[in-house]
Amino acid sequence: MGMRPCCISRFSTFSSTPCRPCRDGGRIGVGIRSEGGNVRIEIEDAGQGIPIDLLDKIWDPFFTTKDKGTGLGLGIVKNIVEAHGGRVRLANREPQGARVTIELPGRAPEGNA
Ligand SMILES: Nc1ncnc2c1ncn2[C@@H]1O[C@H](COP(=O)(O)OP(=O)(O)O)[C@@H](O)[C@H]1O
Ligand SMILES: [Mg+2]
Repeated sequence: MGMRPCCISRFSTFSSTPCRPCRDGGRIGVGIRSEGGNVRIEIEDAGQGIPIDLLDKIWDPFFTTKDKGTGLGLGIVKNIVEAHGGRVRLANREPQGARVTIELPGRAPEGNA
């Protein structure tokens, strides 16, 4: 399946988010698989994870815990994924780290060629 250019360009944003927690030499994992006609993309890190009380707030525009963060990355990603008929989630992993899960329909929604 061909991925549309704006999805590809945003991939760098997904990847830079989990990269920060592991910039001291950690690893991120990326998995892409086809699932019942949909595409599931998972990006996971072994960073500090997200404090439980911030799990809802991280999606708010301009919410950031970084000194020089913009708080816009996740919102932009969510807008693009939803414009393509998909959805995105961010959850903690056990025993540590976070995972971004993006599900996209294999077929573009009506009127979104
Ligand atoms: N992989 C992650 N691990 C831990 N926290 C994260 C992760 N991704 C996002 N966050 C949290 O969500 C906040 C908002 O992220 P984002 O919208 O991308 O803005 P920014 O990266 O500019 O802070 C981050 O400041 C951080 O607190
Ligand atoms: Mg970010």
